[in-house]
Amino acid sequence: MTPQKIIVAPSILAADFSKLADEVRATEQAGADWIHCDIMDGHFVDNISFGPAIVDLVHKQTKLPLDVHLMIEHADHYVPRFVEAGADSITVHVEPEAKHDVEKTLRQIGEDGCRAGLSLNPATPFESVEPFLDKIDILLVMTVHPGFGGQSFRADQMEKVKRAAEWNKARERKIDIEVDGGINAETARLSIQNGANVLVAGTSIFHTKDYREAIAELRGK
Ligand code: DX5
Ligand code: ZN
Repeated sequence: MTPQKIIVAPSILAADFSKLADEVRATEQAGADWIHCDIMDGHFVDNISFGPAIVDLVHKQTKLPLDVHLMIEHADHYVPRFVEAGADSITVHVEPEAKHDVEKTLRQIGEDGCRAGLSLNPATPFESVEPFLDKIDILLVMTVHPGFGGQSFRADQMEKVKRAAEWNKARERKIDIEVDGGINAETARLSIQNGANVLVAGTSIFHTKDYREAIAELRGK
């Protein structure tokens, strides 16, 4: 089997916001593949981050695809604003607390020309995303409870990564399997071994001095 390309997506949540434009350009120069934008509304998760205006700012700094992760209620209402701001992929949550019609929102994202992603929290069983797998481009497996950067990776979530990889094996059209939360060189290796191909990392990139080295280490080089 040819090794698949590993996509590294720095989460700007951990960046220094006083020089966000520089941070975005630095990660692009350091070899990042996507930029991950964590959107939090203080309802679906217990934190508030940033909205479309910041995504638009990021978009103006980089040619890299913007991977927008909506940890918000009523995502369907806000999707057009993130499309307008320059999102390339938009990921929404499957939990009922996200208060939207998941299938409808995924369709809306696709119709707006973005790649559609679906995410599930550590406490949410894999079965809840199964009915949607043939309708999405990205499955984002949360490896921490969403809301804050800098938490410890939950290895018990690898079971979901494995099951998604199994699903992919039997299909011509593969979905990206993305892991998010507590990703460092060691947990990246474990995630890749289990079948993940997209690594979101905040702390382990932005809280280091050498972004290029941090990104290379995540890829296992
Ligand atoms: C958690 C966010 C993550 C987070 C990752 O709610 O979805 O993207 O920023 O940060 P680290 O890599 O610091 O765990
Ligand atoms: Zn995220």
